[in-house]
Amino acid sequence: MTDFLTISLEELVSSLSTLMDQTIAPLRDHHRRTAIVAFHIADQLDLTWQQRHDLIFASAIHDIGAFSVMEQQVLHDLSFESQYINLHARAAYLLLKEFSYFDSIAEILRYHHAYLNNSTEVDRSVIPYEALIMQVADQAAILSVDSLNILDESAGIINEIIQQSGIMFLPEIVEAFNRAAEKENFWLDIKNMTLNSLFTDHLKLDNLHIKSSELMGLVNLFRRIIDFRSEVTSTHTAGVVVVAAELARFHGREEETINKIKIAGYLHDIGKLIVPSEILEKPGKLTPQEFNIIRTHSYFTYEFLNGMSIFKDIRDWASQHHERLNGRGYPFHENSKTLPFESRAIAVADEFTALTEDRPYRKGVSGKDAMLVLDVDVQKGELDGVLVSLLGEHLTEINQARIAAQEASKKEYQAFVLELNKDEF
Ligand SMILES: [Fe+2]
Ligand SMILES: [Fe+2]
Ligand SMILES: [Fe+2]
Repeated sequence: MTDFLTISLEELVSSLSTLMDQTIAPLRDHHRRTAIVAFHIADQLDLTWQQRHDLIFASAIHDIGAFSVMEQQVLHDLSFESQYINLHARAAYLLLKEFSYFDSIAEILRYHHAYLNNSTEVDRSVIPYEALIMQVADQAAILSVDSLNILDESAGIINEIIQQSGIMFLPEIVEAFNRAAEKENFWLDIKNMTLNSLFTDHLKLDNLHIKSSELMGLVNLFRRIIDFRSEVTSTHTAGVVVVAAELARFHGREEETINKIKIAGYLHDIGKLIVPSEILEKPGKLTPQEFNIIRTHSYFTYEFLNGMSIFKDIRDWASQHHERLNGRGYPFHENSKTLPFESRAIAVADEFTALTEDRPYRKGVSGKDAMLVLDVDVQKGELDGVLVSLLGEHLTEINQARIAAQEASKKEYQAFVLELNKDEF
């Protein structure tokens, strides 16, 4: 008998969307707004249940590829004129298509900027209709600027969308938008409706039933989203996962626990999505303000995982990796009484990986030199002494496994960048 896991797509989409919307402008609150507009336009069109479902799902996470291209495309504004407009759409496609359950979403995101007048060659018959709807929703969301009363903005936004009918947008979708936009609740929902109420009151997203063995595929997708922001960050998660899993294995933990630790490792830095790339990759010393932004990331990892019941039991292990046994970590100030083995293992793995990998401002240190630092952290009462000793005993083996995993991850990133920069949708 194969065991199946049920993942609530509602939880997954709203957790991911909410996380992305907590970042800086121009993405702040952008996904929620786009999903709400898409939902209202969909109501005016004759869509199948599946199309509606895919449209809302895709809209709520549509710029997920933006994180992977920030290095190449500065996303200071979401203007259409940018010559790189297709790049983040392609990144989203390349990332999501790796998890077969998201195939149709990947295709929608791939074409979400394939406007009628987009100059890049594309066979228009392959563009999903949902992508064409999302184009209008995306633009209306961008144009809504958060004035005191959004009804004051409505005429101007409608006007701008109409002007692009037949130029950027398919006329029948602009007409559907117009019908939706006649209603005050359309505008008030853009400003006020939460994703949760969209999902629970107006649209039920299906659950995802996957084999338990396929869960790694999903978290691996997250790893790529988290790490593929630049070459510098492209291997961090892979290193942490391997070191934490090896520590658990040498500690005699069972396969099931090891697998859960891996999942926690895969997700531990997902909160870093809200940290701008300029800060993550800053070559010099961080200002106190920049460090404060970094310090929020594990809290957002907690928030993200807390929103998904499937990850409830690994939520703490993943989000406690900057906690310290002496209570001086962040963000919850947990301590030796409250931190479980799994959280301690990920904390040691995270620190060891951070020390040994190259950073923008310094080369990685050797495994032996990293141990000197970890030993001091044990003396200070920060890291778990048993786990650090275990790492020291098996240093060569664990360090080699880390290097291999990180090299594989770097190759994977380089292949991704090559694919990304192909001149096609
Ligand atoms: Fe976009
Ligand atoms: Fe972290
Ligand atoms: Fe980390």
